[in-house]
Amino acid sequence: MKRLFVNGSPRGKESNSRLLFSWIAEGMAAAGDSNTTGGPDAIETIDLARARELDSQREAFLAADEVVMVMPLYTDSMPALVKRFVDSLAGSPRGKLAGKRIAFVVQSGFPEGIHGEALASYLARLSLRCGWTCMGTVVKGGIEGIRIMPPWMTAKTRRLFQAMGASIARDGMVDPAVISAASRPRTLSPFMRTFFRMLAPTGLTNMYWHMNMKKHGAYARRFDAPYGAPYKG
Ligand SMILES: Cc1cc2nc3c(=O)[nH]c(=O)nc-3n(C[C@H](O)[C@H](O)[C@H](O)COP(=O)(O)O)c2cc1C
Repeated sequence: MKRLFVNGSPRGKESNSRLLFSWIAEGMAAAGDSNTTGGPDAIETIDLARARELDSQREAFLAADEVVMVMPLYTDSMPALVKRFVDSLAGSPRGKLAGKRIAFVVQSGFPEGIHGEALASYLARLSLRCGWTCMGTVVKGGIEGIRIMPPWMTAKTRRLFQAMGASIARDGMVDPAVISAASRPRTLSPFMRTFFRMLAPTGLTNMYWHMNMKKHGAYARRFDAPYGAPYKG
C-alpha cells in the first residue's frame, strides 16, 4: 500500500502544514504503519509550493493508494496552488484516479472551526466526483504560529494529529472523535467575543500580524483594497 502526503501550503517545507504532517506520521509509526518502517520521515511528501513540479506531483498522486492532504485556509478557501493541482487531475485516466483513499486537513489561523467548513464540504464533494473514498476531513483552527511555539504549547494539538495518523493506519479512517475535537470551538463563546473586543484597542490582537507585515515590508500597505473601497478601520 503506497501512502503519500500532499502539502498544500505555499510555505512549503517551512509551513505549519509540514509540522502537522510530522505529527500525523508519528501517529502512523506508533500504529505500526509499514510506510514508516524507516521512521516517520519515510513517508513520501510532495510540496505543491514547488509549482514547477506539477507533472511529477500528479504522477505521484495517481500512483498512491492512500493520500493525506493538508492545506491552510486562504481567504476562506483553498490556496490557489491546491486548486491548480486539483484542476490538473482533470482528464486523468479514471482507473488511476478513482478508488483512492484520501484524508484532508483544513487548518487555519482563526480559532473557530466554522471558517473551514465550506472548504471541507467542497472536499467531500470533490472526493465523490473523483471516486475517492474520503477517510475524513479534520478542520482545525488556531494553527498559525505553531512552528514557533514551544513544545508545551502545542502538545495537545500534537496528540490530536498523532491520533489522526494512528487511526488512519489502524482503521483506514480518521477517528470521528478526532474530527469532533479538532472542530471545536465552532464559534467563539459570547465571553471570548467580549474579551477580544476589549483586547483589540491594546493592539495585542494584531501584534503578531503587524510583526510579520513589517518583516515583509507590507505594513504601510495593510489597508490596500485593490478590488474595492479602502478599509476605514
Ligand atoms: C494569504 C492568506 C490568507 C489567509 N486566509 C485565512 C482565512 O481566511 N481564515 C483563517 O482562519 N486563516 C487564514 N490565513 C491564515 C492561515 O490559514 C494560517 O496561518 C495557516 O496556519 C498557515 O499554514 P501554513 O504555514 O501551512 O501555510 C491566511 C493566511 C494567508 C497568508
